[in-house]
Order: sequence, then C-alpha cells, then structure tokens
Amino acid sequence: MIGRRGFLGLGAAALALPAWAQRGVRAEVWRDPNCGCCGGWIAHLRTEGFSVTDHRVASVGAYRQRLGTPSDLLSCHAALVEGLVIEGHVPAFAIRRALAERPEGVVGLAVPAMPLGTPGMEIEGVAPEVYDVIAWRADGSHFPWLRMRGADPV
Ligand code: CU
Ligand code: CU
Repeated sequence: MIGRRGFLGLGAAALALPAWAQRGVRAEVWRDPNCGCCGGWIAHLRTEGFSVTDHRVASVGAYRQRLGTPSDLLSCHAALVEGLVIEGHVPAFAIRRALAERPEGVVGLAVPAMPLGTPGMEIEGVAPEVYDVIAWRADGSHFPWLRMRGADPV
C-alpha cells in the first residue's frame, strides 16, 4: 500500500519537472582561449551539475551578435543555457531560477563587467561585491532582476 502510494507520488513529481531539471542543465559557452576567469565560471557551472560545452573562439563578439546580447551589458563570455542567453559571470542559482520561473518576456541574463566575488571572479581574502543580475528582453530593454553577493542571493 505504502509502496504503491510512493510510486504514484514519484510519478507525479517527475511529470511536473521540466526536461532540463530531469536530465541536467545544458550550457554552451563561447570565450577567449586565454580567459582565466571564464574557465573559473565554467568550473562553477560544472560543480553545480550543468553539462557544459566550452567553445574557445578567437572573437566572442560574433556569437554575442547572433545571440542578441545588448551591447551595453557586456562582460567576458557569452553562453546559451536551455534557450536562455547569458552574458558574463551569472551564478548557477540565478540561471536555475530564471529557467524555473521564466520571467515574462525575458530572453537573457547578464552580469555586466566582472564584479569581484562572482563565480570565477573570487579573490581570496577579498569580500565579494553586491551586484545585480540584469534581465533583458528581445527588444534590448533590461532591468535589475536579482540582487546577489558572490554566488548567492541577498
Ligand atoms: Cu570574466
Ligand atoms: Cu568570462
């Protein structure tokens, strides 16, 4: 009896999960081969269970253009995660939340520049900055979406 109920419960939970949550999040990243902090960000995603394809390219700009990243939100690398465009050191927490909530009209997330303490930008003994993850829409308009420090929301 208990076994049967448990089985049914699990079935319903699995049906409610989106495909990316069941099989793991897939990320494609484009970055300069010599970018050390980009490698740190990729390591963060992998630690968080993302499956990452790492494209080392001569110029990231062309990929950004194809992805539609607004030119006023630039950082050091570009990525595409389950249809969501990413620019810069956006933490896994923010990506997962955006995939789960799919904020209306939002097509991408960015952490412009490279705030200290973001994943891949940690410096031992230096306190992580508070910063905003910026969400943007297809028309290029954007707004501060999630306030964070390091890899966590504040
Ligand atoms: Cu960087
Ligand atoms: Cu980078």
